[in-house]
Amino acid sequence: MDGELAAQRQQLEPAGQAHLLRFWDELNEAERAELLGDLRGCHFAEITRFFERAMQVPAALQRRRQQQQKQIDEQMEPVPRDVQGSVTRDEGRLPEWEAEGLLRISENKVAVLLLAGGQGTRLGVSYPKGMYNVGLLSRKTLFQIQAERILKLQQLATEQFGHKCTIPWYIMTSGQTMESTETFFAKNSYFGLEEGNVIFFQQGMLPAMTFDGKAILEGKSKISMAPDGNGGLYRALRNQKIVEDMEKRGIGFIHVYCVDNILVKVADPTFIGFCVKQHADCGAKVVEKTNPTEAVGVVCKVNGLYQVVEYSEIALTTAQRRNADGRLTFNAGNICNHFFTLKFLKNIVKDYEPKLRHHVAQKKIAFIDDRGQQIKPDRPNGIKLEKFVFDIFQFSKKFVVFEVLREDEFSPLKNADSQNGKDTPTTACHALMSLHHRWVLNAGGNFVDENGTRIPAIPSLKELTDVPIKCEISALVSYAGEGLDKYVAGRDLRPPLIIDEKGVRELTANGL
Ligand code: UTP
Repeated sequence: MDGELAAQRQQLEPAGQAHLLRFWDELNEAERAELLGDLRGCHFAEITRFFERAMQVPAALQRRRQQQQKQIDEQMEPVPRDVQGSVTRDEGRLPEWEAEGLLRISENKVAVLLLAGGQGTRLGVSYPKGMYNVGLLSRKTLFQIQAERILKLQQLATEQFGHKCTIPWYIMTSGQTMESTETFFAKNSYFGLEEGNVIFFQQGMLPAMTFDGKAILEGKSKISMAPDGNGGLYRALRNQKIVEDMEKRGIGFIHVYCVDNILVKVADPTFIGFCVKQHADCGAKVVEKTNPTEAVGVVCKVNGLYQVVEYSEIALTTAQRRNADGRLTFNAGNICNHFFTLKFLKNIVKDYEPKLRHHVAQKKIAFIDDRGQQIKPDRPNGIKLEKFVFDIFQFSKKFVVFEVLREDEFSPLKNADSQNGKDTPTTACHALMSLHHRWVLNAGGNFVDENGTRIPAIPSLKELTDVPIKCEISALVSYAGEGLDKYVAGRDLRPPLIIDEKGVRELTANGL
């Protein structure tokens, strides 16, 4: 241990990080081992470089804030219509795109990649978000819902093309979520997927820093570490040799998405088919932003290059601009749902990733003071360095955007129910049930109340804002509303109910 301590001192002193060892003499063996373990994961020469590059931007921004603002606003251009597909405006072409996507799935050319390395701070649970049960009738977790969508798509493609196919599922975790995620999947027998087709890999971690670049100790023997953002993906793809694995399997197209969207259409054949038909190397699925002040990033061009511009980066007048048809000019709301060709990913990993600069997120970071007391600050006292998955749009040679309906495809789980009304377990659960309610109605089913009276298809506002009709359809039965006629057409159904492999099950008021 002494040898390693001396080596660490040599690394830490020139990097201005020697304070990390200031409690060393007070630590027992186990604590010393813990601290050395953390230090082994930190390469401070590199971290200092990341910090300095990342901090240049906020400093410059502060100096030239107004001028910069004007520049971004002036350089912004909306996504041109010719690179857009839309589930509403291009309805007639959807079957063609879906067929193309299913064909590629049947050829084993499509993989999905889940970003699940986040800390889920706002939700406030100590385990990975994918393990969260939002309160559905089936009590399924987000991981299970996604696994079943993959299973169903494999089945649909197999049935249509007459041979077995596989959609490998790559799951990015972080130091904080790796072990529990893997254990959860193993315990649940990979939800019916083949173990060898669920591939876990781990993104990097970086220390939280003070504003002047000192790594923060959260305990006497513990450095405050956080994952390096969902854009840490590209470095992890290289370091963990994931791109090689994809190549070996013959993958050509990858659908990347976030763990927290309960409505996510994993490996959506229509989105994939649209991107493939357009010969795109990179694509983003978006929902229409309708409220100028909604805190969502918009996909657009800045200075000729595609990127996501956050609401806070532009002036209200720009956010409020509208086209002749009344839609917001910058309306392509980013939902972190992307398409990449493997060729594009390979170029990113090889050539472009090192050029990406980290973003700076100011945070309240618990720290240990000089007396050894842990302090939980009530205002930001430091930063986390993060890259974003969309940072690479700028390198695309053929970028496309696919607009989908929010109520069908986007309801993220971000906050705990206790915090506020937006993006909570309740809103996620309601979004899924309300989608499934519509699927049943569209397939010719009806809902009745406990007296057998028909419940109107469009309930009164009061009912709508209370609780939606409790109806849940297993993805093993339907991926996107297809194939439900045989279960529901012409039937009066009494909620709460589940439609799954066992058929239509009307539940008692107590649930299952
Ligand atoms: P968010 O930025 O919403 O973060 O992640 P989060 O961890 O889920 O929640 P908060 O901000 O701590 O409350 C969007 C997606 O990116 C993934 C998350 O797992 C989620 O799927 N992510 C985020 C990563 O994979 N790695 C990261 O370092 C950060």
